[in-house]
Amino acid sequence: MSDDNMIRILKAGKRYRIGSGEIEVLRDVSLEVKKGEFVSVMGQSGSGKTTLMNLIGMLDSPSGGIISIDGTDITGKSQKELVALRRRTVGFVFQQFHLIPSLTAWENVALPLIFAGKEDIGYVAAALGRVGLSHRSEHKPAELSGGEQQRVAIARAIVMRPKILLADEATGALDAATGSMIISLLRSLAGEMTVIMVTHNSELAKLSDRIVNLKDGNIEEKK
Ligand SMILES: Nc1ncnc2c1ncn2[C@@H]1O[C@H](COP(=O)(O)OP(=O)(O)OP(=O)(O)O)[C@@H](O)[C@H]1O
Ligand SMILES: [Mg+2]
Repeated sequence: MSDDNMIRILKAGKRYRIGSGEIEVLRDVSLEVKKGEFVSVMGQSGSGKTTLMNLIGMLDSPSGGIISIDGTDITGKSQKELVALRRRTVGFVFQQFHLIPSLTAWENVALPLIFAGKEDIGYVAAALGRVGLSHRSEHKPAELSGGEQQRVAIARAIVMRPKILLADEATGALDAATGSMIISLLRSLAGEMTVIMVTHNSELAKLSDRIVNLKDGNIEEKK
């Protein structure tokens, strides 16, 4: 089956069990994202943005509905299959950069390749170049600015050449100018890969192709 959607979500729901009760965070969420598209996800705190990112990133499974990633229906796959698919399909960027303090920028970026048992570490330098940090390869996180640390985290997220890049409040810990630089970087990566970002900043969200707003467990499209 050929289609140009990288992500297809059909009536996905997510309920969390809390003690003897349940809360419904997402209900009947449907969303299609094309290859190379850049989408922003907005919505109030607690509206389920991170939950949705975790479903797309195969870190969590929906309670109902269908999710297909790059043409593969992931609902009903085993944990082992999901881990393998996630590793070659998705890169993650977080608000707190989650770099390893004792490792240099180069070593942090190389980690996913090493974990995946890949011999070819030639792409580490290319990934650092892609985020404009070739000259900081030997620096440790504490020797980098916040924006530089986030760019190292982005290099690490793209070093496996993922088809999807997920950024959950990637600018949340940065000042406005640095945040906008990070979003421009994500903008420049879109096309090569599908980029989904969560942001609370409506100005930054305008740099994406489309904004989806989560409200009461459902999606409203803005543009
Ligand atoms: N593992 C979990 N178990 C139970 N409830 C959860 C779990 N994860 C999230 N929730 C609940 O689901 C709702 C949505 O959480 P989520 O983290 O997706 O929100 P969010 O939109 O990302 O919020 P924020 O903007 O604050 O990051 C919240 O009410 C939260 O308390
Ligand atoms: Mg969140």
